Amino acid sequence: MSNQRRPLIAGNWKMNGLAAAAATELKALVNEAKGHSAPNCDILICPPATLVREMATITEGSSVDIGGQDCHANESGAHTGDISAEMLKDAGACYCIVGHSERRADHDESNASVKAKAEAAHRGGLIAIVCVGETLAEREGDKTLDIISDQVRNSLPGGATASNTVIAYEPVWAIGTGKTPTPNDVAVVHAHIRKELGALMNDSDQVRVLYGGSVKGSNAEELMAVENVDGALVGGASLKAVDFWPIVATSI
Ligand code: 13P
Repeated sequence: MSNQRRPLIAGNWKMNGLAAAAATELKALVNEAKGHSAPNCDILICPPATLVREMATITEGSSVDIGGQDCHANESGAHTGDISAEMLKDAGACYCIVGHSERRADHDESNASVKAKAEAAHRGGLIAIVCVGETLAEREGDKTLDIISDQVRNSLPGGATASNTVIAYEPVWAIGTGKTPTPNDVAVVHAHIRKELGALMNDSDQVRVLYGGSVKGSNAEELMAVENVDGALVGGASLKAVDFWPIVATSI
């Protein structure tokens, strides 16, 4: 991990969390974080949209930030069921995940729509966490780096900088499966992402590139030590503070 880039350990709660239990877990996390008045990493939880405001109230004044999991490309309007970046910001979010593979698959999100959402996140004052990653068939077909190039080049808006954008490399086959790439495989993809970013941004060496996919307490240290890995995007192991904290602890 480079010294210049401040790691980000982010939890994506996905479609999990009802108010009472979520508040208990988040309070436990905030409590752990309190023991570190000047942490060496940023800590983020992305709860379902229904809980953003309440969770942001709980984390106020702490070193834990709150983010959304998706946003619409527009600021407001006739888009039933959707949520804008401005609404997330208004509710207390600082970040927004865009282009998660579950949304690319479940909602047919293309690189172009992910790009529009990242642009919307920036417009709304949020840091966009842009997700990329190959499927198992793509990896087995030796297409990983081509897919990553395509996603990075076409999902990032022109105004992306290291301050308003984070990349998350999440191999689709590693999400929720308990399988992870080898540290060497992760290093190869992260180096490739950084090279691609170099052609797109002036401050590409400052952009944080997270790894996501079956990160847990037992493998976090090894994964976070890989060159060009600047943090983690964690699903299942972020739901309980007792599981998430050991991952944060690798970088704090
Ligand atoms: P898991 O950590 O549950 O594999 O999920 C990763 C993920 O998709 C985070 O966005």
